Amino acid sequence: MFRGNHTVAQDSLSLRVQRITPEAEGILSYELVPADGGSLPPFEAGSHLDVHVPGGFLRQYSLCNDPAETHRYLIAVQRDAKGRGGSQAMHERVRVGDVLTTTLPRCDFPLLHARGYVLVAGGIGITPMLSMAHQLQRQGTPWHLHYCTRSPERTAFRALLASPAFAGHVTVHHDGGDPARGLDVKALLATRTGGTRVYCCGPAPLMRAVREATVLHAWPREKVHFEAFSAEATGAIGEHADTEFQVVIRSTGASYPVPPGQTVLNVLRSNGLRVQSDCEAGTCGTCLTRVLDGDPDHRDTYLPEAQRTARCNMLVCVSRARSRQLVLDL
Ligand code: FES
Repeated sequence: MFRGNHTVAQDSLSLRVQRITPEAEGILSYELVPADGGSLPPFEAGSHLDVHVPGGFLRQYSLCNDPAETHRYLIAVQRDAKGRGGSQAMHERVRVGDVLTTTLPRCDFPLLHARGYVLVAGGIGITPMLSMAHQLQRQGTPWHLHYCTRSPERTAFRALLASPAFAGHVTVHHDGGDPARGLDVKALLATRTGGTRVYCCGPAPLMRAVREATVLHAWPREKVHFEAFSAEATGAIGEHADTEFQVVIRSTGASYPVPPGQTVLNVLRSNGLRVQSDCEAGTCGTCLTRVLDGDPDHRDTYLPEAQRTARCNMLVCVSRARSRQLVLDL
């Protein structure tokens, strides 16, 4: 199944940190190799590892090297001083030579067949796009990457992006902290080419802008793909530490607690309520639920701004509450 004698204990890997490289202001990459030699399980573009980080954190990081490589995995971590500690521990406590335990690579963001690709990345959202870019370049499939960052100093993997293989396929957009000065997503996606897919990963506002532009220009929904990063990864989805709140079901009056670390969707299901879902990452809109009372804390990348401020709907797979309770129309 897997090549070589990589270290596998059930579904985990022991990986030695071979190299740590500053890729941009606040971003380090980590080259991981099998702790006891051999080669690594293969992965497909868009895959991630769950990494056990010192301090007891479990964090998902996208693989950003070429999926054809079996001697190493490359991940990159953006330090988030306001996060919950995982990225800080990676930056401060992980050193070259350390051995990290990870899961096997998993792919929730697969590169589906197309005649061409528009890749849109923001900030640390560049990471899955790089593994895709490597693969597309090797295949000879047309692709173009738009990479949105604040400044040259905040732009990761600059040398790779400027290399002869990538340079003609990459446009970097700096907004200086003002999204209005950055990539014009509506203009970019105004021309829809048959057979092209759009992939986007980055902060929630960028993903919402891409979502709205693709709806405006009638891109088929199945041709547009998003990967939502955690709050810590983007610093944009979910700005608050999770606290417990109650969900109240209108039809029965029943009330259920939603503790930190649990989703509303899971709480509803475990109490016998049927709610449809698909992505369970706040990107597809399937679990949209009407809110009759309370203040949702929107953590999705699907709802347009007007619906977020209206507070009348929420995506229960990711969103939580700012108020102590939410009354749902179920
Ligand atoms: S299941 Fe896709 S947004 Fe909730």
